[in-house]
Amino acid sequence: MRILMVGDVVGSGGRRTVKKVLPRLRHDLDLDFVILQGENLAGGFGLTVETVYEMIEAGADIITTGNHVWDKQDVLRKLDDPQFPVLRPLNYPAANPGRGASSDGPVAVVNLIGRVWVGEFDSPFAAIDDLLAGGWGRGKPIAVDLHAEATSEKIAMGWHLDGRVAVLAGTHTHVATADCRILPGGTAYVTDLGMVGGMDSVIGMHTEEALGRFLTGVGRRFRPVESGPMRFNSVMIEIDDDSGRAVAIERVDREIEL
Ligand SMILES: [Fe+2]
Ligand SMILES: [Fe+2]
Repeated sequence: MRILMVGDVVGSGGRRTVKKVLPRLRHDLDLDFVILQGENLAGGFGLTVETVYEMIEAGADIITTGNHVWDKQDVLRKLDDPQFPVLRPLNYPAANPGRGASSDGPVAVVNLIGRVWVGEFDSPFAAIDDLLAGGWGRGKPIAVDLHAEATSEKIAMGWHLDGRVAVLAGTHTHVATADCRILPGGTAYVTDLGMVGGMDSVIGMHTEEALGRFLTGVGRRFRPVESGPMRFNSVMIEIDDDSGRAVAIERVDREIEL
């Protein structure tokens, strides 16, 4: 089985890039399942019901999220609908709407959020231990998106989950890392998937405001880059159907002009 995991899709430029790139990849790479990081789908902050289904139509099967999942009211009312293909990080306190894991499809998917320089959440390590202890997802490959800032936290989670899940991929930094590997226990690992967004940007946002914030110390409203050279970052994982273990992981990165 072949799974593609796509990095944070930023704004309408990111969505248009997905629509241009993903349908062809789905066909050319003979993909069985696509997991897409959607926390920045709508204007760079959060996601809406419409932008979610735009991505599903383009070839995504399920959308994971992160710290920006709460930014748009529109999507919050849908998060509790079991048919809605969006996860929010599992280790947000349970009082929040939504779910952090889904085993409805051919791949069981878990969404976690890190705590180093991201926020105050329950432990992602304990949260996934609790989930897996109950035999959740048994019989299916398990794919985990750890949405986290610190490379160390993601690498540590890789070792924590080695042999227990098929793949752990990090997201959130919007910067792709070159460390794809299969860990000794058979778990595919990458520290960060990267993003789908404008190349002439600061992690997908116009340089003017993003650089300006560093130069002046004064925050201005960020705007996602919507045209020009665009980056599509993703990782493909090949799973052995019998063992459920990963046998290959490689970067699938594209550049297009919008
Ligand atoms: Fe993001
Ligand atoms: Fe994030």
